[in-house]
Amino acid sequence: MKKRVKNNVYWVGKVDWELRTFHGHEYSTHKGSTYNSYLIQEEKTVLIDTVWTPFAEEFVDNLAKEVDLNKIDFIVINHGEVDHSGALPLLMKNIPDKPIYCTANAVKSLQGQYHQDWNFQIVKTGDKIDIGNGKELIFIEMAMLHWPDSMATYMTHDNILFSNDAFGQHLATEELFNDLVDQCDLFNESIKYYANILNPFSPILRRKLDEITALNLPIEMIATSHGVIWRDNPLQIVEKYAQWANDYQENQIIILYDSMWNGTKLLAEKIAEGIRLADEDVVIKVYNLAKSDENDLITEVFKSKTVVIGSPTIVNGILHSVAGFINLMKGLRFKNKKAAAFGCYGWSGEAVKIINKLMEDAGFEVVSEGYRNQWYPNGDAQKAALEYGRKIARI
Ligand code: FEO
Repeated sequence: MKKRVKNNVYWVGKVDWELRTFHGHEYSTHKGSTYNSYLIQEEKTVLIDTVWTPFAEEFVDNLAKEVDLNKIDFIVINHGEVDHSGALPLLMKNIPDKPIYCTANAVKSLQGQYHQDWNFQIVKTGDKIDIGNGKELIFIEMAMLHWPDSMATYMTHDNILFSNDAFGQHLATEELFNDLVDQCDLFNESIKYYANILNPFSPILRRKLDEITALNLPIEMIATSHGVIWRDNPLQIVEKYAQWANDYQENQIIILYDSMWNGTKLLAEKIAEGIRLADEDVVIKVYNLAKSDENDLITEVFKSKTVVIGSPTIVNGILHSVAGFINLMKGLRFKNKKAAAFGCYGWSGEAVKIINKLMEDAGFEVVSEGYRNQWYPNGDAQKAALEYGRKIARI
């Protein structure tokens, strides 16, 4: 069933309450998600984006109940990723000749995925289409936010920015608008989405936010492709993005570790105690990497100014949970964050050096040689770990 967004603009997407992982298993979606598709019924009838492939049949059936598919004048695909284009093949079977407006890169991604030679109409930033009733659609390329093919579409008069992935959140809800959902859920899912998906592209985002501001378009709604539509103070999420895109950090230190026989875990706890003794105000969070959700941890890393990370030495290396997480952080290109390593060992003891090297390669400023302890930490070792924590707090 379509839901009215504003005037003649309707939501015709899919709420996926059941989704628990996204991008395969790369991103945890504890609260599900939505795939937002929009139907504009002005003098022209326009569909903006579709839904993920498993919901294609349901989507096309529902859409056909709302509008004669042949009455759709054209389709706008803001981004070719399958969660938004997945219903295109089935839809285009019904209306094979209808134009699809998208970027040149989106033609590549859509052809690459579906191997169809649809009626593509390539658009660039500033291109406009008249949709009747004095309204236009204006296209804004959003390359690398977050794919090379991404774009946004702005609807004049109603002043709606269809932003696709940008400003979205993985949040299943039957409510359409930001003011109608739990604000903690909304904030937590928005920052998690930024940290885990958009952070690598922060420099591009900074430039794009300036470019959008310079266009001087009034924005009354930001209609994303996941989660809610921002209608209550829609620029609040743009302001948040401006903060997050500028090497964001809070007064927080995160301690991450994995442990084989709890020695490295004990060091983590003593380091936390030391940090607290040296700094009453800093927020300290301690997580076992192997027992925590990696995407939630990425959000905590995003908020942190320092990452203290530990592993015992195993077979001249480090535990794979730690290595894998450092690799995940590397891909997300964090900037302006400090790092320090620690770990227990029995024999050769390379873990701390290895972590330092990996963290440096991942773009962190390694601020210490690290702290390592042979065998299980005795009283002196625990004191030394506590002192190490004090030292980190003061750096
Ligand atoms: Fe929501 Fe990049 O797809």
